[in-house]
Amino acid sequence: MNLFFGPINARLIAQEGENSVSGSISVDYVSHQFSKTADAVLVDINLNVKAGELVSLIGRSGCGKSTLLHIISGLLMPASGCVRIDGKTVTRPSAKWNMMFQKASLFPWMSVRQNVGLGLKFARVSKKQISERTDELLELVGLTDKAQDNIQSLSGGQQQRVALARSLATSPTVLLLDEPFSALDTFTRSALQQDVAAICKTKGITLVLVTHDIDEAVLMSDRVFVMDQNPGRVIDEIPVDLGWPRKHMDQDFQRIRKKLLLAFKGTEKTEPPRALDGGRHGVESSAA
Ligand SMILES: Nc1ncnc2c1ncn2[C@@H]1O[C@H](COP(=O)(O)OP(=O)(O)OP(=O)(O)O)[C@@H](O)[C@H]1O
Ligand SMILES: [Mg+2]
Repeated sequence: MNLFFGPINARLIAQEGENSVSGSISVDYVSHQFSKTADAVLVDINLNVKAGELVSLIGRSGCGKSTLLHIISGLLMPASGCVRIDGKTVTRPSAKWNMMFQKASLFPWMSVRQNVGLGLKFARVSKKQISERTDELLELVGLTDKAQDNIQSLSGGQQQRVALARSLATSPTVLLLDEPFSALDTFTRSALQQDVAAICKTKGITLVLVTHDIDEAVLMSDRVFVMDQNPGRVIDEIPVDLGWPRKHMDQDFQRIRKKLLLAFKGTEKTEPPRALDGGRHGVESSAA
């Protein structure tokens, strides 16, 4: 597999090797409304993600992407239907399927290494093992020299790397990412997009990425699900049959990007138009 690695440590990823044949997700007839009198937010969502597959969910603001991700993670129970991970119905969050949010949500009073090791501490892993695993992860995300630093002294991109290391600490089979790079500058975002896709591919982690950014979806996915809104539903599924690493300039990249843009333009437009290149809630393009 020819993968590009940015600051994240390729040697360490290779050492750990492909570790997963699990992490398949099946979403069956999931519908949701937040109260009995409220309108349906999601209707009849059916999708399957293979173990180790990288998929994105794209759709306009408010179409229910985060709601669906919360349901997949077990943070929210659907009004009807169910989610299964490796055949088992998801009823609560688990360290085996970790969610990462737009903001790093780290603990500011803890050091970088304490934040990374937190999940392992909760899992009652021995201090020695936590220390070893934390060292490995900090090296993996290129933050060894920041281990003792205060979280607040880190840049946004570095904080997202800490959050990524923390998410990987428990060796999850599934990573659920809710627009994790949208607050970052183009260069940091681009490095993290490449790195996270490479880590997931190499370790066999299943990735579900929620994004507004069509380029991000093409860069990081094997398949993209397009959602429409009112109520939220999956209206299209586009395979991204490109090798790795992916480059914006490639003709095939642009071909799939156009396909996605078309599918996205077909979704219902009930919000005011926003800038294509900067609107956090409009369709974005990081490399246009
Ligand atoms: N806790 C909640 N209670 C009631 N309604 C909610 C709640 N969370 C979300 N909603 C509503 O559900 C709909 C879908 O919200 P959701 O956050 O899933 O959208 P989204 O696609 O992630 O949007 P964005 O791209 O802006 O993040 C919205 O209309 C929102 O107002
Ligand atoms: Mg959202």
